[in-house]
Amino acid sequence: MAYAEEERPSYEVYKETADWLRARTLQRPKVAIICGSGLGGLADVLENQTVFQYQDIPHFPRSTVPGHVGRLVFGELNRQPCVCMQGRFHSYEGYSVSQVSHLSIRVFFLLGVEILIVTNAAGGLNPHFQVGDLMFIRDHISLFGLAGQNPLRGPNDERFGMRFPCMSDAYDQELLSLALESSQELNFLSFTQQGVYCMLPGPCYETIAECRLLQALGADAVGMSTVPEVTVARHCGLRVLGLSLITNKAVLSYNSQEKANHEEVLHVSVVRAEALQKLVAHLLGKLGGNTSSS
Ligand code: HPA
Repeated sequence: MAYAEEERPSYEVYKETADWLRARTLQRPKVAIICGSGLGGLADVLENQTVFQYQDIPHFPRSTVPGHVGRLVFGELNRQPCVCMQGRFHSYEGYSVSQVSHLSIRVFFLLGVEILIVTNAAGGLNPHFQVGDLMFIRDHISLFGLAGQNPLRGPNDERFGMRFPCMSDAYDQELLSLALESSQELNFLSFTQQGVYCMLPGPCYETIAECRLLQALGADAVGMSTVPEVTVARHCGLRVLGLSLITNKAVLSYNSQEKANHEEVLHVSVVRAEALQKLVAHLLGKLGGNTSSS
């Protein structure tokens, strides 16, 4: 199948967007943060903010989901300059996997960002997980990607990265260690987990049989995002930390009365949002100015 031309912006398009932003803010962040469903409050606590609405940024897609505001916020968190996506794009909104990931991530890369912190809301498949747990992503399974929906499909632009990028180191070990250390120092270990995130395209939540399948495949949590952004970020050499907030338990039994729903997802996100903010801020404090060390 041909790769639709409109899904594949040229290098000049990314550069135009990066230049547009650079001309409007003096901030030069080394860290980008993508806020998941209901987790956009993280952007609100940045100091010295410069805010752009997605609709005002050249070539940027629009965010259409409740719980995703649609603003790019530059500022400082715990003295670390960063840029936050307050609202992300999903394939279930009608965007291709390229559209949900290419523009934002490659623009961050052109702006000099070195680290991507990606957060999401996810359903817990691991029976030891509780609603409200924070899961550090060790690895991911992209059923979507395995079926050919990879954002790097199509001609490769070497200015961003190589044709066949390695993904066995998708989630950065050093950042993971710092995140675990932060969790310990904040007394968050009782609700900290690590695991494998599985992405499905949504927008339906999974059937019981699908949840059982994902569990058997080795997934600990399931969601509808993150993998495309991480793929594009690794392609251009960004180091990645992934954080899932377990907002519901995946339904694995036909006797269960539980039903996954977006309201519950947003509610749990609000309850744990403060802990997540503290964790990210603490971690950024540990990075200091030395983001390039790895
Ligand atoms: N499934 C998929 N995506 C999700 C879930 C879920 O159970 N919870 C939050 N996002």
